[in-house]
Amino acid sequence: MLFDVFQPLPADPILGLSLAYQQDTNPHKVDLGVGVYKDEAGRTPVLESVSIAQLRLHEAEETKSYQGPAGNVQFNALLQALIFGADSPQQARIRTLQTPGGCGALRVAAELIVKASPDATIWVSDPTWANHIPLLGSAGLQIRTYPYYDPDTKGLKRDEMMATLAQVPAGDLVLLHGCCHNPCGADLSHDDWQQIADMANRQGFTPFVDLAYQGFGDGLDEDAYGVRLLAAQVPEMLVASSCSKNFALYRERTGAIAVMGANETQAQNTFTHLQSIARGIYSMPPAHGASLVEMILSDSALRQQWQLEVQGMRERIHSLRHQLADALRPYGDFDFIPQQRGMFSFLGLSEAQVQRLQQEFSVYMVGSSRVNLAGINAANLPYLAESIGKVL
Ligand SMILES: Cc1ncc(COP(=O)(O)O)c(C=O)c1O
Repeated sequence: MLFDVFQPLPADPILGLSLAYQQDTNPHKVDLGVGVYKDEAGRTPVLESVSIAQLRLHEAEETKSYQGPAGNVQFNALLQALIFGADSPQQARIRTLQTPGGCGALRVAAELIVKASPDATIWVSDPTWANHIPLLGSAGLQIRTYPYYDPDTKGLKRDEMMATLAQVPAGDLVLLHGCCHNPCGADLSHDDWQQIADMANRQGFTPFVDLAYQGFGDGLDEDAYGVRLLAAQVPEMLVASSCSKNFALYRERTGAIAVMGANETQAQNTFTHLQSIARGIYSMPPAHGASLVEMILSDSALRQQWQLEVQGMRERIHSLRHQLADALRPYGDFDFIPQQRGMFSFLGLSEAQVQRLQQEFSVYMVGSSRVNLAGINAANLPYLAESIGKVL
């Protein structure tokens, strides 16, 4: 039989963690695993601005007819402006295609790169988001890593990173986390971005930025610093973006891939290939999430409301970073946590300590001791800190 070849695959480690958490009956259990934002009550709510947009959409929607492989054209223009800046001088050289989430953007881009250059290698940070590897690799892209996070200093392996990037040849790509690095929380400095732009120009590699957390680090514009610096200086680049976190649209699968070409003709030609690739995989992206984002970004009051909601999520994460470092002070120096950005940090615990936390204290985190800080709240912080203290 055709499918007899299949042995069961191991469960996805992060999704397996969620299941174990759900089945745990300890009333003190804490979930710092899966990477979704949570509020003080431990919920991942629909944003108020999104709820309003949904009601308006329900009233205004006139058709469910097809939109085409590029998706919602207004959404594409608005998201492009959000990423690159509304007054970006590069706008004419950029084309944006709506995709099923940031994952769809990464996958479509991987297909585009392989089509342009079958032998290209993409360099990813060590570590990087686990799903980068299958999303890029299953399109046939070769993957290599550059040093990034230093578990000893809890910062970047800056010298090793720059030394490796200085060897990346023309025609290869370098994948960079735009902000809020997943999984380590340690971001590139302004000076790092400049050095990488200089290397891209000198050596001829193409930067590819994954921007999945715009607004969760220092602000919507601040988090696009690296993208905008590169756009102003390099001839070509790719940007994968996601509305999963900053619009809390996770399951609506809303994202985009933007390509910047050396000139308008090149960008437009490339855009036709992006559309053809999308057509060959899923034909067209889902409409709902992009319609909501379009409505929010094009209405000044709604946009203002959304910006305040993003600010609220960002400030809560910042505050939790400080609170966790303070609560862990009796057990060691965790002051690196508030220096990092986004939802994730490595606590620096061993696999055995992570296991003990789960088995003895019902505290759930990924085996690498990556925590989602948004899973912390005033009610569980003392128990969490005490439990970590006990395994240290
Ligand atoms: C670094 C990174 N890139 C991309 C994504 C894609 O997210 P989605 O496909 O849900 O929009 C995520 C989601 O967790 C991520 O962490």
